Amino acid sequence: MAVLDQLTSQQAIDLENKYGAHNYHPLPVVLSRGEGVYVWDVEGKKYYDFLSAYSAVNQGHCHPKIVGAMTNQAQTLTLTSRAFYNDMLGRYEKYATEYFGFDKLLPMNTGAEAVETALKLCRKWAYEVKGIDENAAEIIVCENNFHGRTTTIISFSNDPVARKNFGPFTNGFIKIEYDNLEALEAALKNNPNVAGFLVEPIQGEAGVYVPSEGYLAKAKALCEQYNVLFIADEVQTGIARTGQLLAVNHENVNPDILILGKALSGGAYPVSAVLANDNIMNVIKPGNHGSTFGGNPIAAAVAMAALEVVKEESLAENAETLGQLFRSEISKFIETSNIATLVRGKGLLNAVVINDDEESDTAWNICMKLRDNGLLAKPTHGNIIRFAPPLVMNKEQLLDCVSIIINTLKEFES
Ligand SMILES: Cc1ncc(COP(=O)(O)O)c(C=O)c1O
Repeated sequence: MAVLDQLTSQQAIDLENKYGAHNYHPLPVVLSRGEGVYVWDVEGKKYYDFLSAYSAVNQGHCHPKIVGAMTNQAQTLTLTSRAFYNDMLGRYEKYATEYFGFDKLLPMNTGAEAVETALKLCRKWAYEVKGIDENAAEIIVCENNFHGRTTTIISFSNDPVARKNFGPFTNGFIKIEYDNLEALEAALKNNPNVAGFLVEPIQGEAGVYVPSEGYLAKAKALCEQYNVLFIADEVQTGIARTGQLLAVNHENVNPDILILGKALSGGAYPVSAVLANDNIMNVIKPGNHGSTFGGNPIAAAVAMAALEVVKEESLAENAETLGQLFRSEISKFIETSNIATLVRGKGLLNAVVINDDEESDTAWNICMKLRDNGLLAKPTHGNIIRFAPPLVMNKEQLLDCVSIIINTLKEFES
């Protein structure tokens, strides 16, 4: 078989199984094309994408403006490394810092790399500005967090599957309950070694857990009181997904360090970033940190186009309106359902809790049926299904999707 021959779905799955590491458990559907809110499999079947590559494709698949910026730049200059300047990075840094309201940006590629960058930045600030003794800095994190897959990040995960047999782990993290201000204050009090508090404004991978109203604002105030950096991981929640540009905007919080990834490129290219003001970012000096690909000209061009699309197409406003409609329609169904117990979320980051235990395969089976019915979604944890379509969806499409979801759930009512 020549590499570029047209494959059937089964052939493509067999190739991945045989030649790829088994580090994922994908839903059996093989996609070969995407446009806006739709994707097509290799046999030509059309689906609504209700995952958006874990909220990376907020601007919709193959957005012409983003693809245009990418192909144009790819034909001009792709990579210089940071050994030299290039004529795109500075423009992008100016654009993105003004867009999000920070002094400086540090460019990376993936979400996990950006989280690592934020942790290093926070520690260096702690030693050089706050005055913590060398190697004593601690960063507070939350239980059930998801910040990526590197060795340091899994060091403070409590997911046994992510951790088992990957030790030894990195020290210097204190884990507290999410959405618990008393726990945060207890961890901050009488501990002068705390450097930062790393938090997801909504815990996405854990199952779209939205904290109590006021949690983020009060947590930020506590961090200020104890001279600790508030680090918002908006890799999944950021860039219009939750109905605001950033999820922290719902509570008018300005993080000290902001972590972005995924939709920063509209899913076209791996682009991530850490943003902070000068009093923090200036602790980073040449040689302290970097990445061959971070800040490359294609990434810069793609990110500017992706951010422009978010404003030009009012994606945050659309996510807010359609998210409310989604939750209200699904809630009406849940009132009389015994298969779904709860819908929760903000904007177009939502989850439906399925009435079965965490170990059951009901949510998986529902996702398989949704696939057959033309909509792609995936369980996050056992019995929770996340619903996160591209934000370029319109009302008619959303209502069509709601009826697919409800009709599918009805097939599972007992
Ligand atoms: C909140 C959060 N942080 C970090 C990451 C890691 O991003 P990446 O997979 O690009 O490394 C994710 C990925 O889902 C995420 O949801």
